[in-house]
Amino acid sequence: MVVYQVYPRSFQDSDGDGVGDLDGVTARLDHVAALGADAVWLSPFYPSPLADGGYDVADYRDVDPLFGTLADADALIAAAHERGLKVLFDVVPCHTSIEHPWFREHPDWYVWSDRDGPQNNWRATFGGPSWSRDEVSGRWYLHSFYPEQPDLDWRNPEVPRAFGEVLRFWLDRGVDGFRIDALDRLMKDPQLRDDPPASGPPPLPEAHMEGGLEQRNSRNAPDIGTAIAQLRAAAPDALLVGEVYLLSNRLQPYLEHLDACFCFELLHAPWRAEPVRAAIAAAAATGQAAWVLSNHDFPRLPDRVGPRNVRAAALLLLTLPGLAFVYQGDELGMADGPDEGHDRAGRDRHRHPMAWDASPNAGFTTGTPWLSVVAPADGPASEQRDGSMLDWYRSLIALRRELRGDLELLGGEPDVVAFRRGEHVVALNLGDAQAAAPAEAGEPLLATPGATARALPPGGAIVSPAT
Ligand code: GLC
Repeated sequence: MVVYQVYPRSFQDSDGDGVGDLDGVTARLDHVAALGADAVWLSPFYPSPLADGGYDVADYRDVDPLFGTLADADALIAAAHERGLKVLFDVVPCHTSIEHPWFREHPDWYVWSDRDGPQNNWRATFGGPSWSRDEVSGRWYLHSFYPEQPDLDWRNPEVPRAFGEVLRFWLDRGVDGFRIDALDRLMKDPQLRDDPPASGPPPLPEAHMEGGLEQRNSRNAPDIGTAIAQLRAAAPDALLVGEVYLLSNRLQPYLEHLDACFCFELLHAPWRAEPVRAAIAAAAATGQAAWVLSNHDFPRLPDRVGPRNVRAAALLLLTLPGLAFVYQGDELGMADGPDEGHDRAGRDRHRHPMAWDASPNAGFTTGTPWLSVVAPADGPASEQRDGSMLDWYRSLIALRRELRGDLELLGGEPDVVAFRRGEHVVALNLGDAQAAAPAEAGEPLLATPGATARALPPGGAIVSPAT
């Protein structure tokens, strides 16, 4: 499957308030279908004070008026299904917004310090201690992310029960699955022990490493599988994709119950053959990889791999076996834009609105966009024709349907990543000099400009029948 990630705030505004909304998503579903995607995943659109772009949810079972109504969500689901697109919503079980009524009505559903101060030395993902004082009760609560996002206590059986109702609410409305947020933070050490000092760099990049700690107790508790099993029990037939910020070899307790987990190793791998090959091998070994190269949290492709390598990166993403996630705008070649001060962790850069056409604000809104519209190098979607980035993505997704079989990495030139998928060979050159394509590659079915069955220029990539 190819899953297309929609960041609703920045996709399409339908009412001129400058903010994308659900009706806007519905109006643009033909774009997603024409791309050849099988499903859409929508980042959160629930009622939220937007301290974390909607990942601070104040009501899991409604739509924020900024984005529309429940009826608009129903219409979106129906319109997607009419086009053969499955629908994944984003659920956030680790924490609520501090404005969720649960925080006052059910304080025992949250994690509290038993002291007048932080219980331990844990650090929050976006900086500062993981503990803040609740001004109402005077007690200190745990938050793995921003202080506006108190962590739920998944060891209290009421919490999985309440969350099961949330999943069933959306399944009853026709949703096909969920992207589940921040699962490695769902369960922590039951005794809330300190994190030990780190002996080396973190396994995956962290937004803030000010504490110099190894996050051994503040995430990924040994009994995490019990909580994940409860999520699965509430949604036995749904597609469940976990956001678990761990290396592939730590994902087993999650994958036992989920369909797939994102492969963050590949998303972060330095764009060199050896680390990219290692990331692919590790995730492919799980057999349940959800491949992803960018999303609303991390730099877009031109900024991450360099403009020269963007097409090769897309070719890699869309030829790997399993689930592939395409972040909105990547199919237009969008690059990061300026930081305009909405997200305190600096992630505005990756969230600029879609550029649809040549009209003012690129057709995203008739009003003032909440974040400026930054035109991609190949122009807005309506201007991208044969040979454009959009054309490249459509061709890759169409060819993807022909690819069968497991992944088998091939040897060859040191700067080339190459693998077989059944009857096909995929090869890309990540180095700075021309390199030979693998001997197994026949005349390419798809090639970046200048790449052939014999030679791959820097940034060159091909998909060929195997000879
Ligand atoms: C996930 C989301 C990110 C959010 C965080 C806390 O990593 O992708 O945007 O800030 O969880 O919910």
